[in-house]
Amino acid sequence: MHIAMVGSGYVGLVSGACLADFGHNVICIDSDVRKIDSLKAGKMPIYEPGLAELVGNNVRHKRLSFTTDLVGTVGKADAVFIAVGTPSRRGDGHADLSYVYQAARDIAAGLDGFTVVVTKSTVPVGTGDEVERIIREARPDAEFAVVSNPEFLREGAAIDDFKRPDRIVLGVEDERAKEVMTEVYRPLYLNRAPFVFTSRRTSELTKYAANAFLATKITFINEIADLCERVGANVQDVARGIGLDNRIGSKFLHAGPGYGGSCFPKDTQALIKTAQDYDSPIRIVEMVAAVNDQRKRAMARKVFAALGGSVRGKTIAVLGLTFKPNTDDMRDSPAISIITALQDGGAKVNVFDPEGMDQARLVLEDLTYFYDPYSCCDAADALVIITEWDEFRALDLERVRSLLTAPIMIDLRNIYDPAEMERKQFHYSDVGRGARAKA
Ligand SMILES: NC(=O)c1ccc[n+]([C@@H]2O[C@H](COP(=O)([O-])OP(=O)(O)OC[C@H]3O[C@@H](n4cnc5c(N)ncnc54)[C@H](O)[C@@H]3O)[C@@H](O)[C@H]2O)c1
Repeated sequence: MHIAMVGSGYVGLVSGACLADFGHNVICIDSDVRKIDSLKAGKMPIYEPGLAELVGNNVRHKRLSFTTDLVGTVGKADAVFIAVGTPSRRGDGHADLSYVYQAARDIAAGLDGFTVVVTKSTVPVGTGDEVERIIREARPDAEFAVVSNPEFLREGAAIDDFKRPDRIVLGVEDERAKEVMTEVYRPLYLNRAPFVFTSRRTSELTKYAANAFLATKITFINEIADLCERVGANVQDVARGIGLDNRIGSKFLHAGPGYGGSCFPKDTQALIKTAQDYDSPIRIVEMVAAVNDQRKRAMARKVFAALGGSVRGKTIAVLGLTFKPNTDDMRDSPAISIITALQDGGAKVNVFDPEGMDQARLVLEDLTYFYDPYSCCDAADALVIITEWDEFRALDLERVRSLLTAPIMIDLRNIYDPAEMERKQFHYSDVGRGARAKA
């Protein structure tokens, strides 16, 4: 199969490289010349474990290449995937579909012979209809079908998720397109990955429903964590106690600073907007988004409390900036709101993140950057862990304590054991554990 991947970001590049690894002939396209130049030079524009090796290997075998020339490339393709960004539209929270529609116009200009146009970007219900209309209007003669195939990979584990997915959702209403998509995913078919064939609109909505449900699960356990703090219960034990129930499941029950990242915040907002437009509001998701929004600054208040009520004039060391470990993605990371609130409170902020500091420089100001956890802590008045990178899980606590001006740690990911921290004489705060009944 010849596959064109429009958009070579977190999703397009990983999907393109994995499809090439299945044996297809893949060209990854991007309008960002620097991104394509860097890929051609063998440099990854993003950090994703295993990606550099996978891309390098498939480039060597001539199954994967890169270009900025969309129009000139799609003619040869059996399937053209759209994997461009769909950020929140400024002002109203709807998904900004301008990149998708631009890609559709460019694809229309290059189509040649029967081609399946596959929307992999996360797009609101009805976007497939609009993509079809745009292409049909530009090229009344073209033979094509528009399919929805949302992506469920997680950054940090993207390659494994793509190659061993829980399911593949395909919104396809055209028999020829169904054959092409079955061929594209044949290796997974042979591995018995579950396929969900459905209508295009159902497929589009499935992606939003999945993300909104996961965001709800996180927000639920976060509010239970707050209650645990009030009543002197332990949220990790509650999570285990409910998660072992198969109807609930143990994943996404980790209390923390609130969800962030490139998907949940914007996708919950977009679903809320779609539902309101169709006069069928999803109030539970509206509430989830509002609760999550407030939570991030509430985490900064936890830091204020640990320092006796104020951080003015203090230096706070922050470990972890990205919205989760094993990615360099800073989009909507909780760290942004938390650090800004600390700065608003008059603190100086030292930071270290293993991969996210280049991206952080683009979204946060007035930080002092360090290149290891210990120098970040040196002479700081407290340590805050925001992202649970593995290398923060086993810090030399004696050394950390000796570097800080006071042994104060606020662990927003619950990666340390409160009893051990007490033994090590830290003033330790976490999220929803330990007996601190106030009633
Ligand atoms: N990042 C994730 O974990 C994830 C997971 C599942 C789904 N998604 C969805 O996948 C889509 C892409 O997300 P991402 O994180 O990969 O975004 P990204 O911003 O990393 O990548 C998008 C790329 O598309 C390029 N682009 C934009 N318009 C273009 C055009 N007309 N022609 C060619 N290239 C163009 C951009 O330059 C950019 O490199 C979004 O809809 C997102 O919601 C993302």
